[in-house]
Amino acid sequence: RIAYVNGRYVAHAQARVHIEDRGYQFADGVYEVCEVARGYIVDMPRHLARLKRSLKELSIAWPVSEGVLPLLLREVVRRNHVVNGLVYLQVTRGVASREFFFPAADTKPALVITARKADPAAAAKRVETGIKVITVPENRWDRVDIKSTGLLPNVLAKQKAKEAGAQEAWFVDTDGTVKEGGSSNAWIVTRDGVLVTRPAEHGILRGITRTTLFDVAAKLGLKVEERGFSVAEAKAAREAFISSATTIAMPVVEIDGAPIANGHPGSMTLSLRQAFFDIAE
Ligand code: PDD
Repeated sequence: RIAYVNGRYVAHAQARVHIEDRGYQFADGVYEVCEVARGYIVDMPRHLARLKRSLKELSIAWPVSEGVLPLLLREVVRRNHVVNGLVYLQVTRGVASREFFFPAADTKPALVITARKADPAAAAKRVETGIKVITVPENRWDRVDIKSTGLLPNVLAKQKAKEAGAQEAWFVDTDGTVKEGGSSNAWIVTRDGVLVTRPAEHGILRGITRTTLFDVAAKLGLKVEERGFSVAEAKAAREAFISSATTIAMPVVEIDGAPIANGHPGSMTLSLRQAFFDIAE
């Protein structure tokens, strides 16, 4: 495997960053994960637009000129022969001796890009059985709209899910509504067949897959409502699913041990997933 690290393509096993990289010390960085399907990076313009916003919100400069990044991403995908899989990119504020204040203006942001192949058989199996989620109280900061590498609450929540035999944890707001998963957005399908997901104005990450699923739903003539939903509403829903670049639309069959409908993946979720791949580019 090959990684891109600050202007160089290096063997993945030998790829290194400095111990005083601010990403390492402060999680002072942002990232993107894009899905690769049929050799193409899915929704790349939307991912780059979100990256631009994340960088701006944290006053981190572009590590390379904006127009070059698509070429670098494609090159890392190509060099790793990824046809179906993921490409990961991370930008940190760069290397400087440890001070909380931003480093000198001439400090170069650090850019790392990696890519890896997906295991299609494992994904297919997951879709067939669906996943289980647990709910946890929201304990993250209020800027989760920024795709920051500071993911410790997400790590702890997802580990808790794993230890409970589940695959994702949903963060629940103080008002009882579901915010999003540790690494995905949360959706339900109501008894009337309406897709529901939380508005992305505040308190969640505006998922790229979420946005693209709006397009897919429109093509399929499905109704979407952007509103909050409670854990109780989710448990009583016809279907539930999560969305992310790594899962696309993945059926949820159990929430905190309670089966959703008959406990099998929902048909609307599966149609959305199929249609996503049909139109993805
Ligand atoms: N996570 N919400 C959170 C907290 C996420 O971390 C992610 C993605 C999403 C979905 O966003 P998108 O559809 O753009 O992938 C929502 C990535 C996949 C990760 O951290 O691995």
